[in-house]
Amino acid sequence: EKGGHEYFMLKEIEEQPEALANTLRGHFDKGRVILDEQRLSDQDLREVDKVFVVACGSAYHSGLVAKYAIEHWCRLPVEVELASEFRYRDPVLDRDTLVVAVSQSGETADTLEAIRHARDQKARVLAVCNTNGAQIPRESDAVLYTHAGPEVGVAATKTFLSQLAANYLVGLALAQARGTKYPDEVAREFAELEAMPAAVHKALSTVDQVRELSRGIADSKAVLFLGRHVGYPVALEGALKLKELAYMHAEAFAAGELKHGPIALIEEGLPVVVVMPSPKGRAVLHAKLVSNISEIQARGARTIVIAEEGDDTVRPFADELIEVPAVPTLLQPLVSTVPLQVLSAEIARSRGYDVDKPRNLAKSVTVE
Ligand code: F6R
Repeated sequence: EKGGHEYFMLKEIEEQPEALANTLRGHFDKGRVILDEQRLSDQDLREVDKVFVVACGSAYHSGLVAKYAIEHWCRLPVEVELASEFRYRDPVLDRDTLVVAVSQSGETADTLEAIRHARDQKARVLAVCNTNGAQIPRESDAVLYTHAGPEVGVAATKTFLSQLAANYLVGLALAQARGTKYPDEVAREFAELEAMPAAVHKALSTVDQVRELSRGIADSKAVLFLGRHVGYPVALEGALKLKELAYMHAEAFAAGELKHGPIALIEEGLPVVVVMPSPKGRAVLHAKLVSNISEIQARGARTIVIAEEGDDTVRPFADELIEVPAVPTLLQPLVSTVPLQVLSAEIARSRGYDVDKPRNLAKSVTVE
């Protein structure tokens, strides 16, 4: 049942191209993005003037990526918030607020309570969920199912990539409702998404290299992760995976923050994973990150760099270079997350831990 793999998580990592294709399938027809359930009128969607994405853990990281896409495509302000924080402040919500609740299980207690609070304030709720008929989609005004299939590993992998893809679809659905993108532009963005399962398949060719590399990190005290723009949530996800699977201290920073404190942590031999933006798509940020890497390398850090294939400018600063395929900037998290998943799973395995069942964690968190 593990399909020849030593643990389910690796099988599920390898199933990601298929999971992504399943998320996209059926959500675009006759030139339009379609949701699975919509108890909202097109008018309601058109009138949305503010978006909150609420979620926990990895789902929250998928929401951080969504912010970049939705703001860019829809010209709508987007806030992304941990569900457990959202409901205990007094967020400003009304009928024109769309709350996007992202939850694989659809049963996460904090996310459920957050949408109940939002609906009490008359906000509209759209659920992105992997589990048909779960409580969160049942209590939402619209639903987009990720259709990633069941996930056995406790740590989210293929469901995370599917959440990313579903969130992009939510962005396109809003852009089409609001008219901030012409139908042919929506169709073009969807076509870019359809090319992603093949790109993720290519990103999986890094598995052997990452396995090998992970052995050299298994005894480290800590690992830092750096990223910018959509690479920042990827860094956060990489750090979360390493904590939960390998029980290692792992922390992610927005690379621009390095000089404001975290650079003091850099010491001889400390592994630092850097998620690079595309040298073509984000040339300015790319140059700034190259400069960050040279600084930390000069202070003795061991740099592990995830970069677009053919990115030669970063090569001299990468003690280990992991190349992922070139894809549109906003979609980069779909490919750059893959080696980070393998890294944490393989470090966990080297340390002798059960990759599929990390200690103290449950697949579905139904208590607050
Ligand atoms: C991390 C992980 C968790 C979940 C979080 C939310 O690998 O799996 O952080 O992402 O508990 O779960 P859902 O998406 O079911 O609401």
